[in-house]
Amino acid sequence: MSKQILVTGGTGYIGSHTVVELQNEGFNVVIVDDLSNSGIEVLDAIEKITGKRPAFEKFNLTDQDKTNAFFEKYPGIAAIVHFAAFKAVGESVEKPLEYYHNNLVSLMNLLRSMREHKIPDMVFSSSCTVYGQPEKLPVTEDTPRKPAESPYGNTKAVSEDIMRDFARATEGINCIALRYFNPIGAHPSALIGELPVGVPNNLVPFITQTAAGLRDELKIFGDDYNTPDGTAIRDYINVVDLAKAHVVAINRLLNNKQKASYEFFNIGTGEGYSVMQLVKAFIKVTGVNLKYSVVGRRAGDIEKIWADTSYANNELGWKAEKTLEETLKSAWEWEKHVRNIR
Ligand code: WQD
Repeated sequence: MSKQILVTGGTGYIGSHTVVELQNEGFNVVIVDDLSNSGIEVLDAIEKITGKRPAFEKFNLTDQDKTNAFFEKYPGIAAIVHFAAFKAVGESVEKPLEYYHNNLVSLMNLLRSMREHKIPDMVFSSSCTVYGQPEKLPVTEDTPRKPAESPYGNTKAVSEDIMRDFARATEGINCIALRYFNPIGAHPSALIGELPVGVPNNLVPFITQTAAGLRDELKIFGDDYNTPDGTAIRDYINVVDLAKAHVVAINRLLNNKQKASYEFFNIGTGEGYSVMQLVKAFIKVTGVNLKYSVVGRRAGDIEKIWADTSYANNELGWKAEKTLEETLKSAWEWEKHVRNIR
């Protein structure tokens, strides 16, 4: 009987891609999601890709009774991959209490359930946002965290501390936090991908929606940064490469290869690309004449960040493989699928 993995937030962007890779690895997946930022039709897409439909339960993990009832109903959970969280940076500035409550109470309910139901392992979705604007680049796992630029970012930093302290205090509990850089792209089948609700905050979905004619033009937030072309630099990681990192982390824990009860890894490509470089690469790989203009900086943005991925490469044995070009192409193929564009 293959091991059963709980994926919270499993109908979301990174969650759904991780469910696919876990199923490809032979795991039996159950998803918990409150569908506040994703649709139930993602289950059909996952089933089309892998031939296996994950089990699904709809509720919010801040509800302790429903969380307890879930673990009574699914006594065979071997490990948890925890994505479920609110994640819009701007919204978190307006609604800090909702963000702290949702993201931290969900995590604590899960950790409490792990202790009660003897579930040893959790892989957690963290973010490079915990580094703020690093003094030195590239960022390693030794780079000190900085006060987060937003309540969303702070929920990630505080979540890491909660896991660290709980794992150290609780026999048999092991957690790995994966600090994502900028996830982009879509599954090569174009059946799952990023589908932001409303106007996209993130760069790549805004680019693909502009290319699809849903947005007039892309606004580039600032070209007066201290970078080669003046636009901000990020480490854009393909979402399938990122999903595979979760499978590697789950196997590390299930096989007791972890070196400590709490570990964290930078999951990026090691390459930084500017906004303008991304725009030019998108136009080149898709042939779309993307309309864009440069406007002022966006409040809260950092100037540049990219990862030193040697620790994840050597310790996890994981490395990002997809090129930026094929990743941007996959994002465009997905957008065309969603909008029924030939
Ligand atoms: C990337 C670059 C923008 C939109 C955030 C969160 C991070 C994670 C990923 C959740 C920046 C520029 C963007 C646009 C633009 N979120 N940009 N025009 O801000 O690096 O990271 O999303 O897990 O935690 O902090 O990503 O895609 O919003 O921006 O010029 O319309 O693109 O200024 O330089 P960001 P992003």
